[in-house]
Amino acid sequence: MSTSNTLEGILSQYRNSAYNNDLVWINFTRRTDKFPFLKEHRDFIEKNNLGFGDRAFHYMWYLLISHLVLKNGHPKVLEIGVYKGQVISLWALIAKYLNSTIDIVAVSPFTGNISNNVFLNNPFVNKVRGYISQKFIQNQKVGNYHPRQDYFSIIREVFEHFELNFDEVNKIKGYSNSEPVLKCIKDMHLDIVYIDGDHSYDAVVKDIQNYSSLIKPSGFLVMDDASYFLPGNQFWKGYEEVSRACAIIEDLGFTNVLNVGHNRIYQKDLVTTRSINKKIFL
Ligand SMILES: C[S@@+](CC[C@H](N)C(=O)[O-])C[C@H]1O[C@@H](n2cnc3c(N)ncnc32)[C@H](O)[C@@H]1O
Repeated sequence: MSTSNTLEGILSQYRNSAYNNDLVWINFTRRTDKFPFLKEHRDFIEKNNLGFGDRAFHYMWYLLISHLVLKNGHPKVLEIGVYKGQVISLWALIAKYLNSTIDIVAVSPFTGNISNNVFLNNPFVNKVRGYISQKFIQNQKVGNYHPRQDYFSIIREVFEHFELNFDEVNKIKGYSNSEPVLKCIKDMHLDIVYIDGDHSYDAVVKDIQNYSSLIKPSGFLVMDDASYFLPGNQFWKGYEEVSRACAIIEDLGFTNVLNVGHNRIYQKDLVTTRSINKKIFL
């Protein structure tokens, strides 16, 4: 892989092969640890069970945000599926490190959908639930269950730990494709949309359709858990349903420019001759 430290340098040499995908993932993991502030943030997340994903993604976000800061100074970025705030706090931290400002939009229910009670998370009870409901099995398969907790307080603590201001984040509480949420986001112009919410096929397709049109030309759509069909042996590849949904992205005027483990980065074409659907899909 490229020894370049710029996004352009890395993109110009990237090819989607098993060799390259493994090397990107390994190198990005190492590069995360070379930046003390990235390493400290990821260590804190891992130690306190505050998020998912791979260490390599911290360097990926550093590359993307610093590219945007150099380009226009004040990026506007949106995450679908915030959980305990790993990614939004990282974005704020990277902007602070770069002496820049950033507009962060966080779309999430900020609540869980399953009891935190140990008994109700018992494998035996879940097996019985599985017999009763196919939907339960399906949601469990794609990691759609999260314990009920006070997510706002948890995220605020993460922000405070890194001396960041959670009040500056535009928090949109709800499900990404619900009518009230779509009303809030419909006029946004974004540099990055990061999709990591509901992992079922239909929901991911709707997220892509409803949010990709908000991305500025040459901005980025980053899909989590999306590399199921990609070559590579070193990393977990995500969910089949999410990865299958990604098949629609290039027809919406995007090019897959880089893959980092199970995160796939698509860049919006500057000029597109492809048909772009701007309808809202409920
Ligand atoms: C896998 S977690 C996200 C992890 C987080 N991005 C990180 O890197 O630490 C998925 C999150 O998406 C939320 N979620 C589920 N369906 C959603 C939807 N339709 N819209 C927004 N958020 C959703 C869940 O409540 C949960 O917080």
